[in-house]
Amino acid sequence: MTDALKHIKANVRTIKAYALAPLDAPIKINQNENPFGMPAAIKDEVLRRAAATDWARYPEFVPAVLLGKLAAYTGWRADGIMAGNGSNEMIQSVVNAVVEKNVTVVLPEPTFSVYAQVIKVAGGNIASVLLRDDLTFDVPRLREAILTHHATMAIICSPNNPTGCVIARADLLDLLSTGALIVVDQAYLEIGGEDFVALLNEHPNLVILRTFSKAMAMGGLRVGYCLAAPALITEFNKAKMPYSLNFFSMTTAEVALERRELLQPLIAAMQSERERLFAELGKINGLTPVASAANFFAVKTTLAPRELFTQLHARGILIRDVSSAALLKDYVRISVGTPEENDALLTALKELL
Ligand SMILES: Cc1ncc(COP(=O)(O)O)c(C=O)c1O
Repeated sequence: MTDALKHIKANVRTIKAYALAPLDAPIKINQNENPFGMPAAIKDEVLRRAAATDWARYPEFVPAVLLGKLAAYTGWRADGIMAGNGSNEMIQSVVNAVVEKNVTVVLPEPTFSVYAQVIKVAGGNIASVLLRDDLTFDVPRLREAILTHHATMAIICSPNNPTGCVIARADLLDLLSTGALIVVDQAYLEIGGEDFVALLNEHPNLVILRTFSKAMAMGGLRVGYCLAAPALITEFNKAKMPYSLNFFSMTTAEVALERRELLQPLIAAMQSERERLFAELGKINGLTPVASAANFFAVKTTLAPRELFTQLHARGILIRDVSSAALLKDYVRISVGTPEENDALLTALKELL
């Protein structure tokens, strides 16, 4: 085996594998999903369309119907949109189109770990810029890092996973003025954060990533999309697998957009539960939640994060231990659940702390 391994790129072999333990629990608040699930009327309509479709045939090469609906939903032009297998695939396609040896990408730290993984696989360099002590973006240092490293790209997750902080429009404009590609991952936009689509008109170096996995209740189906200048989208598409969006996922995304009024009350409930959970967590001795625009919180805990994770898991509640990330050694990440799930979490936390 050792012999065969020598063929693997050194930069791949040194990466620590991105893994999530296959744990389950009755209350699963570890992956920032929509806790209410997809409305039955949407599922029924997708199943009806699936039954009427020939599964032997490839889906459309360019998912024109979905791109048209995404254009109407986002307010951006259809030829400036790429859709595929989750925003993870969008991240991978953008990075593969841009990054090679000697190319530097600026990343705030801590942030969503998939960025660093795909950049390293592509052979690129990462210039990390720590968040400030209050876990917000350090924009002057991000700007400085882009300029001093002659970075080709920066990836800003807003709201940032796992801290929930957002980038302000003026700060984004400041980063765009460097001329580097500025990728803004807005996976949680429907739940919070400012919509930057209008900036695409004036800023050809802006790239926006979005997903159906979070507010839109489709994590299991894998649909993400990328918004940028049409010329950039043409290049990014070359780095994406053809047909990565299957008929089933594509149709569900279409129906979810057609029947948005069914998802909207669930998103509103996630937002109001976020406010309630934040206030209630703050009342528990030993816990300090960080204000978040998304459907999750980084929460500072006086109990060791691993211990809190284990004790909650023993009570049927799955959260995320994020204590190995920079600045977060005393933190866990908790997603907003249904009102009943949040009540059960609060009861368990009051017992433990
Ligand atoms: C910021 C961010 N981007 C992207 C993703 C991946 O999303 P998708 O399911 O669309 O691949 C996640 C998932 O946790 C995320 O938090």
